[in-house]
Amino acid sequence: MSRSRTAILAALALVAGASGTALAVVPGSSGIAAIPCTVDYKVQNQWDSGFTTAVTITNNSAAKTSWSLKWSYAGNQRVTNGWNAKVTQSGTAVTAANESYNGALATGGSVSFGFQGSYSGSNALPTAFTLDGVACNVDNGSGTPTDPGTPTDPGTPTDPGTPTDPGTPSGKVDNPFVGAKGYVNPEWSAHAAAEPGGSKVANQSTAVWLDRIAAINGVNGGMGLRAHLDEALKQKGSGQLVIQLVIYDLPGRDCAALASNGELGPTEIDKYKSQYIDPIASILADSKYAGLRIATVIEPDSLPNLVTNAGGTAGSTDACATMKANGNYEKGVSYALDKLGAISNVYNYIDAGHHAWLGWDSNFDPTVQEFYKVATTNGASVNDVTGFIVNTANYGATTEPYVKITDSVNGQTVRQSKWIDWNWYVDEQSFAQALRTKLVAAGFNSGLGMLVDTSRNGWGGSARPTAAGPTTSVDAYVNGGRIDRRIHAGNWCNQSGAGLGERPKSAPAAGIDAYVWVKPPGESDGASSAIPNDEGKGFDRMCDPTYGGNARNGNNPTGALPNSPLAGKWFSAQFQQLLQNAYPPVS
Ligand code: GLC
Repeated sequence: MSRSRTAILAALALVAGASGTALAVVPGSSGIAAIPCTVDYKVQNQWDSGFTTAVTITNNSAAKTSWSLKWSYAGNQRVTNGWNAKVTQSGTAVTAANESYNGALATGGSVSFGFQGSYSGSNALPTAFTLDGVACNVDNGSGTPTDPGTPTDPGTPTDPGTPTDPGTPSGKVDNPFVGAKGYVNPEWSAHAAAEPGGSKVANQSTAVWLDRIAAINGVNGGMGLRAHLDEALKQKGSGQLVIQLVIYDLPGRDCAALASNGELGPTEIDKYKSQYIDPIASILADSKYAGLRIATVIEPDSLPNLVTNAGGTAGSTDACATMKANGNYEKGVSYALDKLGAISNVYNYIDAGHHAWLGWDSNFDPTVQEFYKVATTNGASVNDVTGFIVNTANYGATTEPYVKITDSVNGQTVRQSKWIDWNWYVDEQSFAQALRTKLVAAGFNSGLGMLVDTSRNGWGGSARPTAAGPTTSVDAYVNGGRIDRRIHAGNWCNQSGAGLGERPKSAPAAGIDAYVWVKPPGESDGASSAIPNDEGKGFDRMCDPTYGGNARNGNNPTGALPNSPLAGKWFSAQFQQLLQNAYPPVS
């Protein structure tokens, strides 16, 4: 992840009055209009080994559609990460080029970007800049010292940020999972420990799901948000701890399925904001909790559903079309990103479905566009996004050891096998890494980190293949070698044969912030028959093992375990299967 808006504001606040670090005005001899460009380079914050800057370029020549600013350092400054520009360095020479979203620069227009750097000795200011090869004037007369703003995020005056961690100028660390233990939810842990053999995994970190307004204060005497955060402080001790919260109560929730429909109707966006997000934000912003790292998972399945299930495809539903038309998923997610991202110790991860949902070009690119749109409208900024999560509550393998998407059999690509069905990915990690690259190219911060929910994707036990499949046909090869033993990769409810996956772990692979257990193992995905309830949850036949499926699983059997309770309720038989089939095995 990269810096948040809050962090920038916090850094600015910290140096208010530190004008000694700003460049002196070097007036042009013939008046500003004659000079093709002006650069305002300010060191906003500086500590013994590092600094942050805000740079504003004003264009006084012809309008541009892209731009590139260059300068050199006299000292050993090194740029470590930038925002609102692609900032690269070679030797002492630095180039800042526009992002995809801020290349347009009108005559008389300005654009701002920032970066963080390291240095030792003195941090001498650069004295010469060129914009697209033309020398600029150097000026600190424009902008406001306290908030230069950015074209994509002018800042919100009502949200001054909370500089809770003045020790690190960016406020947020790049990967909150590194060097931190994970919060153990005592309620989940007790369920797990009560199962035979369950104590072997009961100390794992799982996410806390805020799946209704009442969960903020605690449902039926259970722990509410403050109770979890207080417990997290105890578990933290003097080290670092990350607690994961699932933000999951959008209006018209779970529009392509029924099992996790929620309490808010399609139009109840105001209630979502004022009775759900605002109270959560105000608790998380309590300075008492400033020492915790809080990772949020933002609204599983919602934006992917807008992309693939809201019209024009066989899997579309009226409910998703409604949510696309009324914009309330988008407004809700933007609002959550903005409000929660403004808190200096909150790290937002947006849900990004899974490879067997979005891994076709026709879904992948529109998904990236949808994410970018939501992260840059209604008050949200890309700086509110630490990263994305894949496979939330799903079963896709992290990596397929015996099937690679580049494999072919007798000259035929495995992509044409029935199982892969022309998808570009065969597992979650390759999907997450490719998605990350595309998201950064689209304008998300270069520090973006991905999470993979590995709670139930281990696929161990006796049915796990131990070698590649036979090369008699692409289907024989893929079906013989794939560790994901589902009947169809579109199956998602209480899957028979699944096992616990990789235990939670930070920075397991390039671009991946962590493997996490977001779906608490043992909690049902949905009921196998209709069960009356007051949570808004419906009966989705994808949880019924006798059902023949729908368009989203190619009309295949569901592979669901029988006798399952309502979504979220403890499902002992499922927990025991997950333990049995864990991979890596539980010892
Ligand atoms: C499902 C349920 C939700 C529960 C969550 C975690 O999505 O709808 O109520 O909290 O799973 O088990």
